[in-house]
Amino acid sequence: MDEVRVNGLRGVELAVFDLKQSSEFYRNVWGLEEANVDGDTAYLRGTGREHHILAIHQRPRAGLVAMSFSARDKRMVDALHAKVCGLGTKILSPPKALPGVAGGGYGFSLETPEGQIIAISADVEQHAEAILDRSRPQKLSHIVLNVEDIEKQNRFFCDVLGFRLSDATERMDFVRCSSDHHSVALARGHGAGLNHMAYEVPNFDGLMRGAGRMTQNGFNIEWGVGRHGPGDNIFTYFVEPNGFVTEYTTEVEQIDEATHMPGDGAYWAKKMPFPDRWGMATMTKRLREAMAGDIVNANNLRCEDIISRKMAS
Ligand SMILES: [Fe+2]
Repeated sequence: MDEVRVNGLRGVELAVFDLKQSSEFYRNVWGLEEANVDGDTAYLRGTGREHHILAIHQRPRAGLVAMSFSARDKRMVDALHAKVCGLGTKILSPPKALPGVAGGGYGFSLETPEGQIIAISADVEQHAEAILDRSRPQKLSHIVLNVEDIEKQNRFFCDVLGFRLSDATERMDFVRCSSDHHSVALARGHGAGLNHMAYEVPNFDGLMRGAGRMTQNGFNIEWGVGRHGPGDNIFTYFVEPNGFVTEYTTEVEQIDEATHMPGDGAYWAKKMPFPDRWGMATMTKRLREAMAGDIVNANNLRCEDIISRKMAS
């Protein structure tokens, strides 16, 4: 059998305080489209054919619920499960048929060493047609996690799930599971949590149209427009209504497995001391705080205040 590994990023699941408000934001402003609704969960698709790239669950506290990756087929799901069990990783649910409301398929879930949930699946329903609108996200491009122990998380993604290191800077490891330069990046120094998620739009014009739609709806660009070093992708960053950082990105470097050599921290520090190849984009303080999880945490405290006041009245 081929190497046992995941082969793509499907999507992300978030807990949000207000399902209606978040769903409206992600559909009408961010540019996703409803694929399904099931009770307190909404499944949202991009313009690509993946069943959904974002699931939002109404919960008392906002946060990252899970990340979802694809495997080539059922046999690969079972092989990954066997490998993961052999390495002592915590399994949350064994391989089984998945609910039709979420696109069905066959998969299992497990936990990273720092407690994030990962779902791995195959044979998930695809939409018959892509949507032709370059100003809207076609897929989830990458998730960046804040980590406490970068070596441990790197070993988990590479040794357990079959990711490969694409590049490393002094602060971050970029790992891939497809030809995209990175589907996951690990950022030191903030404690375990979600740093940001990035959605790919088809081209630069689409990225600017999306950014225009956001600014017209009152969401300032918090970093960008710029072009990253590792990954070479063009970016604009925003803070969405729950306090999560969300990015439009395009022109992500495609890796040639035969020739790619990862750059290390010293290489990138010398090649690109400024974190934007174009030398213009500066991150706002608000974005830095949001990437650290501070805005989601502050919102959670306010939300809990509201709940406790309601319970007391
Ligand atoms: Fe990013």
